[in-house]
Amino acid sequence: MNEPLRIDVELGARRYPIWIGAGLLGQPARWRGAIGGRHVLVVSNDVVAAHYLDRVVAGLGADLAVATLVVPDGEAHKTLATSARIFAALADLKASRDATIVALGGGVIGDMAGFAAACWMRGIAFVQIPTTLLAMVDSSVGGKTAVDLPQGKNLVGAFHQPRAVIIDTGTLDTLPERELRAGLAEVVKYGALGDAPFFAWLEGHADALLHRDPAALAHAIETSCRSKAGIVARDETEQGERALLNFGHTFGHALETAGGYGTLLHGEAIAIGMLLAARLSARLGRAPAADAQRLQTLLARFGLPTELPTGSDPQRLLDLMRLDKKNVSGRLRLILWRGVGHAEIASDVAEGAVLEILAH
Ligand SMILES: NC(=O)c1ccc[n+]([C@@H]2O[C@H](COP(=O)([O-])OP(=O)(O)OC[C@H]3O[C@@H](n4cnc5c(N)ncnc54)[C@H](O)[C@@H]3O)[C@@H](O)[C@H]2O)c1
Repeated sequence: MNEPLRIDVELGARRYPIWIGAGLLGQPARWRGAIGGRHVLVVSNDVVAAHYLDRVVAGLGADLAVATLVVPDGEAHKTLATSARIFAALADLKASRDATIVALGGGVIGDMAGFAAACWMRGIAFVQIPTTLLAMVDSSVGGKTAVDLPQGKNLVGAFHQPRAVIIDTGTLDTLPERELRAGLAEVVKYGALGDAPFFAWLEGHADALLHRDPAALAHAIETSCRSKAGIVARDETEQGERALLNFGHTFGHALETAGGYGTLLHGEAIAIGMLLAARLSARLGRAPAADAQRLQTLLARFGLPTELPTGSDPQRLLDLMRLDKKNVSGRLRLILWRGVGHAEIASDVAEGAVLEILAH
C-alpha cells in the first residue's frame, strides 16, 4: 500500500492525528500506538462488524484486554438506552480510567461511542475508525459526540476529542451506493462553505467520485479533513467559525426529526438543507440565485434529493428549527451564504422568510 497520509488536528496537548490510507486496518503497527492502557472496548454495529470487527480485534493484539460490543444498526439506536449498554460493557470489562473505546462504524457508532467515552469515569480515551464516507470526512473529526432524544437529534452530548482517527479508505468498498452519495453531500459542504476551488474540483470530478475512483475519493477525503481539522483547531467548542460547518444543518436536522429518524439519510437531509439555505440567501438578496442553482446541479449529479419531501409541514419544520443548538435566546441563527465558498452566520433572519422558503 502507499504510505498513509497524516493530518494533525492542532489542539495543543490534545493534538491528534488523522491517518488516511487504503488498507490501514491490516497494518495495525501504524495505529495501535493510539491505544493507551490495557482495557479496550470495540463498539460496532452488526453490519460493520460482519466486515471489519475481526480485523480490528486481531490488530489490537493478545496483550490487551479486549471486549467487543455489537449493537443494532441504525440512527434509531443512537440513544441513551444503547449508551447504557456501552457503560455496562465497560463495567463488565472492569475498565479503568486508562481504558480506550474504539468506535468502528459510521457516524452513529462514532457519536455514541464517543459520548460513552466522554462519560465513563468522566472521560476516557477513544479512537475513531470511521467506515462511511460521511464519518471519514466529518463526524469522526472534531470531538462532537451525542445521542438523540425523541424530541430532537444530538440533544444530549459532549465535546470529547478522539486520540486518533484511522481512515482506511478500503472500507468504502463495501459501503452501499446510497450511503456513498449521502457522504458526498458533506464533502460538497466544505466547498460550499469555504472553498470555491474545491467546489469547482467536485464539479469536474463528480463521475470519478461516483465510480469510487480511489485517487478522487482520497483527494476528497483529504481536502475535507484538512478543512475540518483547521476549523476545529481554530474554534474547538463552536464559539464562532465552527458554526459554519452547520451549513444546511438547521434545516436538515428539522427534516430528519420531522420524518422520523431513518426516512431521509443524514447526508440527504443536509443536501436539501444546504439548498434551502442557499435559496433563502438568494431570496434575502445576500447571494446570487445562480449559485443556488449551481449547488442544486452538483447535488443532483450526486443523486441527492434537492426538494423537500412531499407533504412536509412548513410550520412544523420551523418549530423544530427553533430547538436548534445554534439559536440564542430563542432567536433563529442560521448559516447562510454569499455564494459558493462564502458561508456566514445570520442572526437576523425573519421567521416569515424561512416559512416562505419551506412552503415552496
Ligand atoms: N459528530 C459530528 O460532528 C457529526 C457530523 C455529521 C454527522 N454526524 C452524525 O453521524 C450520523 C450519520 O452517520 P453515517 O452517515 O455514517 O450513518 P451510519 O453510521 O448509520 O452508517 C450508515 C450505514 O452504513 C453502514 N455502514 C457503515 N460503514 C459501512 C461499510 N464500510 N460497509 C458497509 N456498510 C457500512 C452502517 O451500518 C449503516 O447502515 C448521524 O447520527 C449524524 O448526526 C455527526
